[in-house]
Amino acid sequence: MKKMKFGTLCVHAGERPDPSSGAHTTPIYQTSTFVFDSAEQGAARFAGEEDGYIYARLIPNTPTHAVLVEKMAALEGGETGQSFSSGMAAITGVALSLLNKGDHLLSTDVVYGGTYELFASVLTRLGIEVSFVDTTDLEKVQRNLKKNTRMVFLETPANPTMKVCDIAAICAMAGQGDAVAIVDNTFATPMFQKPLQLGADAVLHSCTKYIGGHADLLGGVVVGSREFIKNLMPVVNTTGLTMAPHEAWLCIRGLKTLHLRMERHANNALEVARFLEAHRKIAWVRYPGLPSHPQYEIVRKQMTGFGGMLSFGIAGGIEAGRKLMNSLELCSLAVSLGAVDTLISHPASMTHAGVPKEVRIKASITDDLVRLSVGIEESEDIIADLDQALDRL
Ligand SMILES: Cc1ncc(COP(=O)(O)O)c(C=O)c1O
Repeated sequence: MKKMKFGTLCVHAGERPDPSSGAHTTPIYQTSTFVFDSAEQGAARFAGEEDGYIYARLIPNTPTHAVLVEKMAALEGGETGQSFSSGMAAITGVALSLLNKGDHLLSTDVVYGGTYELFASVLTRLGIEVSFVDTTDLEKVQRNLKKNTRMVFLETPANPTMKVCDIAAICAMAGQGDAVAIVDNTFATPMFQKPLQLGADAVLHSCTKYIGGHADLLGGVVVGSREFIKNLMPVVNTTGLTMAPHEAWLCIRGLKTLHLRMERHANNALEVARFLEAHRKIAWVRYPGLPSHPQYEIVRKQMTGFGGMLSFGIAGGIEAGRKLMNSLELCSLAVSLGAVDTLISHPASMTHAGVPKEVRIKASITDDLVRLSVGIEESEDIIADLDQALDRL
């Protein structure tokens, strides 16, 4: 059959009638362990001589997990994948698999606050050297790549400044040495950005966001080559970073509408961004779909759509921002993103509160920055809610 298009893959990839019952949708294999036909078979599975399920903590976990990773691999254009209990578990699993004491990690300077804290506090405690670099500056990236750089971690568009970096250029630089390039594709999703096609060795997601899509699960996933995923096995199997079967099922269900949701998220976000940019009480707006975005040229080169996330600052700074957030009636004041409903938050005091102030400000995560995850409601209603809240300032 001809190669299927993205939306068809969202619905069909990885799906098949359940081999034991013929069930049309993938069952939730709510089991911790699997029965072997014989002692010899158990031994062969543990020895890696025979494929098959063993115990839900051990790769390949359960048949529900297997469908999820097959679907995600098809969407990202990778060979296979591995699911995790959260986005942070996925990042932890990759970092602990790739990095040893004395190795160097080069990371985008603007990343999700939890990622920053993992790199800056936990990995450095283990003797791993970490540099946070402005990855929009390719010369700076080149200068900060060292002989012992083993991992380059990019988050683009970045949380929460929406900064975009050139994935292909940086992956090519990483490939000249011994470094493996990893891209956190949570904001863009495979609908709008395919890091593996741009040269990344692996791509990862917080499934908690757009992959699940309904703010009702925690999960993470990594997609890459068979060899890359196989190398995650010792850490995944021993640390218990595993996704639960029910969460895997929720991700599969969410992914079936990813293409429809993302189209609506992006259309709404563009309308909201244009509304905010034209509003006299708004000081600035960062959205990859606006020509005013500082890396608009790179956006046009590597993204096929602009996503549902944006950030903005209000004339009047954080006090005005707080008043705006407290005045909203439809949009929910909550962290996280990628939900069907619109969420608004203040990174400096919430998601990025653990990032030291001087680091935060240097990375443009300013006190006045408000982050908006635009949902799939009717755009007129989202705009009307923002408008009435701005009127109160
Ligand atoms: C870009 C990005 N990556 C990773 C994470 C971590 O994901 P999780 O909360 O599922 O651990 C987040 C969380 O907000 C995020 O925004």
